[in-house]
Amino acid sequence: MEHSRLLELLGEMSLEEKINQLFQGNSMFYEEDGIATGPASQQGFTEKTIRETGTVLGIIGAAKVKKIQKEHMENHPHHIPLVFMADIINGCRTVFPIPLAQGAAFNPELAKTGAEVAAREASASGIQVTFSPMADLVRDARWGRVMESTGEDTYLNSRYAEALVRGYQGDDPKQPGKIGACVKHFAGYGAPTAGRDYNNAELSERTLRDDYLPAYAAAVKAGALMAMTSFNTLNRIPSSANRWLLRQVLREEMGFDGALISDWAAIEEIMNHGMAADRREAAKLALEAGTDIDMMTTCYSNHLKELIESGELSEALLDTSVLRVLELKNRLGLFENPYKDADEEAEKRLILCQEHREKAKNAAKETFVLLENNGILPLKREEKTAFIGPYVEEKSMLGAWSIFADPEDTVTIREGVTSYGANALFASGCSVLDPQTSIMGMSELYKNAKTQTDLDELLGEAVDTALRADKVVLCIGEHVAQSGEAASRGDITIPECQKKLLREVARVNKNLVAVLFNGRPLDIREIKSLAKAILVVWMPGTEGGNAITEVLYGKTSPSGKLPMSFPCCVGQVPVFYNEFKTGRPNDAQSKNRFLSRYLDIPNEPLYPFGYGLSYTGFTISPVRLDGNTLTQEGTLTASVTVKNTGKRRGAETVQLYIRDDAGSVVRPVRELRGFQKLWLEPEEEREIRFEITAELLKFHDIHMKYQAEPGSFTVFIGNDSRTQNQAAFTLL
Ligand code: NOJ
Repeated sequence: MEHSRLLELLGEMSLEEKINQLFQGNSMFYEEDGIATGPASQQGFTEKTIRETGTVLGIIGAAKVKKIQKEHMENHPHHIPLVFMADIINGCRTVFPIPLAQGAAFNPELAKTGAEVAAREASASGIQVTFSPMADLVRDARWGRVMESTGEDTYLNSRYAEALVRGYQGDDPKQPGKIGACVKHFAGYGAPTAGRDYNNAELSERTLRDDYLPAYAAAVKAGALMAMTSFNTLNRIPSSANRWLLRQVLREEMGFDGALISDWAAIEEIMNHGMAADRREAAKLALEAGTDIDMMTTCYSNHLKELIESGELSEALLDTSVLRVLELKNRLGLFENPYKDADEEAEKRLILCQEHREKAKNAAKETFVLLENNGILPLKREEKTAFIGPYVEEKSMLGAWSIFADPEDTVTIREGVTSYGANALFASGCSVLDPQTSIMGMSELYKNAKTQTDLDELLGEAVDTALRADKVVLCIGEHVAQSGEAASRGDITIPECQKKLLREVARVNKNLVAVLFNGRPLDIREIKSLAKAILVVWMPGTEGGNAITEVLYGKTSPSGKLPMSFPCCVGQVPVFYNEFKTGRPNDAQSKNRFLSRYLDIPNEPLYPFGYGLSYTGFTISPVRLDGNTLTQEGTLTASVTVKNTGKRRGAETVQLYIRDDAGSVVRPVRELRGFQKLWLEPEEEREIRFEITAELLKFHDIHMKYQAEPGSFTVFIGNDSRTQNQAAFTLL
């Protein structure tokens, strides 16, 4: 539709109609064919609100979407279509590994492929916008939502955020099989104090700008149609009411011109935060700040009319937001094609098709991180291997956001190993969670928790099985409901029954491999002390069992690298590689007590950012720089030669870190500024080049100016964030 026609449409709409465009409904509205009954009426929604709603959340299925859309447009005074939105995070029905795992692949293209598959399946089922990517920087493993991020690094997250947007939207979200992306949660949601979900975030403006904002900005630059505000307060202001953040930073500085939606009930929560006295004031603050759409509360629909009629808010402000919603519909092509790709036939053809499953399997294989291996891996098909643990037959390994997927479609480890034809024994040993564990509101998800008597019996069987095998693969980890939204944890270890299983099995069979399922970095010191190999598989998705089998048996070498440090214990958290220099840097050899260190634990995490092994070995040559000075406009090339020195094909992720040796403000000890993943055959070597420009050296200086300061820099190139392989140059 022509833009001029959108403006005309806006001019024709009544005040209430416009307000209702800013309201987001959900499936409860359509239980009684659009009549406000049951929970909908209890929450104060009227039939008029429902009839004129602008967008809806969480309704999926081609037939259902088409029916609702048709009736909605027939009943709407101006026949304006709805937009169907949902959380399609790491897949719709074919589920890819969780985002944190995708970060471990150090391969944004893989995330793009995942987003393409998700968009194809979701759009066939009528979804037009997904609430992804989550570009929140995460440093605190206690926070359950770290699983939805790609990790602790700004540069890595930025590359993923843009790749995901491109995967969902393609060149034009109107095109078949594409959906709109919504970058979230703006801003700083990944920094909740003490790792507790929904808690406040206190970030200096410099930290916010240097570390937290770039990944959102990358998604905006890639063209994300929408953005979502965050639940948290940022420096004491709830995001949905933060005019500076939303108007100046997001719109003016980042150039975002799409529709901005609040997170679920976040406008109402401005009142809970204590910044608004009531819902009316919350509505006023949110619209003034620039929040266009009210997700799931009646703040806008019940109060904007009065606020505008009394002159407390201008109608022009409302019109700007309504126009953005109309523009969103137009960018999705909904005025011409309100059902977009919703198609029952396409649903049947695409959902869980072989091609999608294959892509999900290949993605999963690239996300696994090998933390330890004394040579016990890869396994051999003929050797008798006992697969023990609650994850051997577990199907819930899709991650917390796979709300439309059916765990029944998942390939378990037992199924994967059996179809591979390996000489294997199986025993569950225990349930994933301890008996009596309660995860609030999630009882249906832990129905497999056993009684103590069951557990004793299972443990006995597991020990017998371990005794009969040459090697044991222990499949253990967190429960899927222990990470995700509202899943913060103070103890980041595996459940007690699994610890007991680990100890008992390790007692009778020392050839132990641990396969670890997790939505966050865990404290795995005990596992490390007992296992000869550790493979982190996160929540691997629909093809988990096949992917794990192929990696364990060496069909593919593991190639993941940690996107988030694994702490030695929870007392270190938040622990991340790019911390600031201190006045008393630690020196582990020094006897001086008065250094920045703990008395009882090391400073270093158990496994650092960027770390991960392969079945083969690599050497990386010393860093070569093609000069020792760089101008503000120039380019310096840093190169290394990487060689596969082992006997198998494998991938190394070569990482470029840069340290600003001295700045007008304190700078991080180093920062990731490039990475390249390359697969090499045995004995193969290749030169890798990184172009260094002043752009990569910029930060917010003492005057909050974003610039690269002349001076000396150190370049590190290696295979994890600890590398000391370095060279120096000067920026003129
Ligand atoms: C709340 C979550 O914080 C957000 O990420 C999600 O997109 C919305 N709910 C909608 O489900």
